[in-house]
Amino acid sequence: MNEGGGPLLGQRLPHVLYGGDYNPDQWPEEVWPEDVRLMGEAGVNLVSLGIFAWSRLEPTAGKFDFDWLDRIMNMLHEGGVSVDLATATASPPPWLSHAHPEMLPVLADGVRLWPGGRQHYCPSSPVYRDATKRLVEALATRYAKHPALAMWHVGNEYACHVPACFCDVSAAAFRGWLKQRYGSLEGLNKAWGTDFWSQRYSTWEEILPPRRTPTWPNPSQQLDFMRFSSDELLECYEIERRILNERTPGVPVTTNFMRFFKPLDYWKWAEREDIVSDDVYQDPLDPEAGMRAAMAGDLMRSLGRGRPWILMEQTPNRVNWRDVNAAKAPGQMRLWSLQAVARGADGVMFFQWRQSRAGAEKHHSAMVPHGPLQTSPTWREVVQLGGELRGLDAVCGSRIKADVAILLDWESWWALELPSKPSNRVQQIEQLEAFYRPLFQANVTADFARPGDDLSGYKLVVAPSVYLVSDEAAANLASYVEAGGNLVMSFFSGIVDPAEHIRLGGYPQPFVKMLGLQVIDWLPLGPGEVRLVRFGDGSTARGEVWSELIEVESAEVLATFIDSTLSGRPAVTLNRFGAGSAQYVGTHLDASALAVSLKAAWTRAGVKPVIDVPAGVEAVRRTLVDGSLLFLMNHSDAAVEVITAGGSVRLNGGDAATDGRVRLGPRDVAILHQSEVASPV
Ligand code: GAL
Repeated sequence: MNEGGGPLLGQRLPHVLYGGDYNPDQWPEEVWPEDVRLMGEAGVNLVSLGIFAWSRLEPTAGKFDFDWLDRIMNMLHEGGVSVDLATATASPPPWLSHAHPEMLPVLADGVRLWPGGRQHYCPSSPVYRDATKRLVEALATRYAKHPALAMWHVGNEYACHVPACFCDVSAAAFRGWLKQRYGSLEGLNKAWGTDFWSQRYSTWEEILPPRRTPTWPNPSQQLDFMRFSSDELLECYEIERRILNERTPGVPVTTNFMRFFKPLDYWKWAEREDIVSDDVYQDPLDPEAGMRAAMAGDLMRSLGRGRPWILMEQTPNRVNWRDVNAAKAPGQMRLWSLQAVARGADGVMFFQWRQSRAGAEKHHSAMVPHGPLQTSPTWREVVQLGGELRGLDAVCGSRIKADVAILLDWESWWALELPSKPSNRVQQIEQLEAFYRPLFQANVTADFARPGDDLSGYKLVVAPSVYLVSDEAAANLASYVEAGGNLVMSFFSGIVDPAEHIRLGGYPQPFVKMLGLQVIDWLPLGPGEVRLVRFGDGSTARGEVWSELIEVESAEVLATFIDSTLSGRPAVTLNRFGAGSAQYVGTHLDASALAVSLKAAWTRAGVKPVIDVPAGVEAVRRTLVDGSLLFLMNHSDAAVEVITAGGSVRLNGGDAATDGRVRLGPRDVAILHQSEVASPV
């Protein structure tokens, strides 16, 4: 029995979900029985059906054709495959935009995007919204009782091509959203600081989206437009979800996320999903692909507040959309799939089931490739992985315990990367990765959290350049530390309020007392520019991207700058505040120095790695009521041996680990059932 809630789709599918996007509408019906037979061979138990099928489901306005969908739904059910049924609203059919060209989205510079690709709709368009309502109502009514229906897949990758629309319809919707937010024009003028550059509004009608302007548009306006655009698309999703909840209560609803995707505030979105799902397309040429996928997995688990999530899309082999679409090495697809499971996924899915013959994605790999299956390494791995996942029912519903939280707030991310800053080299994801990297390498499991969340369950909280904070979030962080928590905060945090106005009173104003210091001035560094830093133990490090003039009040200095005008001034500090501690890092430390400094912080906080393993091996533990599942993943190209606690049972083939020694080949994965949670190193 697992801690925390059992299989994602309940007893109807008490297994790790396995399958992919299935587009039978692209193939003659003669192919379908073969599809279902092969799904059986591969262990597929779930498919995301008909994601781009709108023009086949509703060939002309208001005339639905569900016969073909009935046939394939029945066939799948008979073949033992459940359906994550798409609402098919991600690509409007030609007849809709032909009749209503005003529903097409418009860019900031007035360029209209035309049909011929996908996602060509303005999120605020009543035409688009009404048409989606009709389609979803018809689908939900027809398939409410269908035995193959296991979950709903709303839209697809919202905002991936069109994150915002700047047309007149959107402008009117934006004004409506602003009225709700500010109540009065005076409130808006104040929040947007419109006395700057003569921008004071005298009627609502004067207000526009931040269209292309001679120079920077008002930053508070831009920030509100990002909030609005995320909310507006969320409302498109909500329109569909409300219909589905009403017609098919109890059937879970999801829409697929895209890792750290800037345009959508996924904290808000995830609250509206029954199951969080994610699309992860690591580049095999990226040496840090494994770390990046782990980080995405941790985010998805955190977005779902610890609940298992679904890896909704990944590619079995090559994609088609990079300049060079590298193939996955043997075992890489399996490694990255099981890595998702290790990080909390209870489903492993692909884009897509059968490789397209026509269209823009025919060079994108699929579970069933173009060529003969007998000679296809991709197909062989697909079948093997399906077999392996069938033996992993034990993971379903199990949770992951993290003692560290990394703060990520979408609004702060948006504000940080607005133009006209001291430096545009401070990028949110780079700063997150800088802190995530040492945790990943040492196998210290981390969650992501919002600055305003209840952080009391974490021993260590890391705040990488949290530029914008609300009063409540700032107070929350201070009380976390005061109550005994340990915080590591990096430069350019706490600078503005939610209107993107500077918090006056000395930087970083809301944290001055907690950090025991003031930042007097920022000295950003250019590309290639380095500041040297010396720690108390005499070791030196490089600071890049950013430096600053810090004046300590109560903080202890852990490291100082040793060159430039900052020579002798603090670079890294530690302040005791209440019962806790707040470390501050005033530059972008090089990776090894940051690793040492962060390790000192997690050790001080009593945080322990999952297990001590050779470099290149990732270790994550999923907790069961009767012990745990320890995932050991070798990201390197060389075989390694890992010493674990004895008494483990290896769940997925390979050597038994009764003596505690586990051999892992290149890109190999071992999953060990340990009846006692071994005490960490
Ligand atoms: C995703 C999308 C899929 C497919 C895939 C190709 O972004 O959801 O429909 O286009 O990329 O990698």
